[in-house]
Amino acid sequence: MDHRDHVRLLRDGIGPGQGVWADIGAGWGAFTLALADLLDTDARIIAVDRDTGALEALRRAMQARFPQRVLEVMHADFTQPMALPPLDGIVMANALHFVRDKLPVLAHLRAYLRPGGRLILVEYDTDRGNRWVPYPLTYPAWAALAERAGFAETRLLARAPSSFLGGFYAALSLCPAGPPASMR
Ligand SMILES: C[S@@+](CC[C@H](N)C(=O)[O-])C[C@H]1O[C@@H](n2cnc3c(N)ncnc32)[C@H](O)[C@@H]1O
Repeated sequence: MDHRDHVRLLRDGIGPGQGVWADIGAGWGAFTLALADLLDTDARIIAVDRDTGALEALRRAMQARFPQRVLEVMHADFTQPMALPPLDGIVMANALHFVRDKLPVLAHLRAYLRPGGRLILVEYDTDRGNRWVPYPLTYPAWAALAERAGFAETRLLARAPSSFLGGFYAALSLCPAGPPASMR
């Protein structure tokens, strides 16, 4: 995949493209750079990862490709509480598959989103893991899990082929106003 593919995967999920967005498990920033292309010029972008080397590479890539963007980087473990502000959007690409017990992490991420906030998940469309992608989930499994985690209106945005594990999907879910039905 190249930058155009990353942009295409996210494009239909961005909405107004304003406010504060976080790329959770940003790595070297393929999807952070896509966000920089898609979001309003005034939008804030925060890249979160536990790999400081990757965040430094991302900072340099952003400077080279989108010098007008102010990128905030946060060294953090996304399974733990993070010092994030209220978010209008989250991108989580190829990072949730590192988590076996996904529900608590999703509930924790959901709490950072404003009502109506957007979660765009990019994942391999398979439920057969391996040592590099230990706990992937298909789009139907994601749609069911997102609902259990209190997200609403989950829909498929786009797909991209991959020689590794078949292909990716991008899906959008919304954070509804109020607590999830399971917690009322
Ligand atoms: C396969 S890379 C994906 C990077 C990027 N999102 C992409 O799609 O190109 C997964 C990234 O998630 C990060 N990661 C995995 N588990 C994490 C955790 N618990 N907290 C923070 N970062 C994590 C890794 O350090 C790595 O940079």
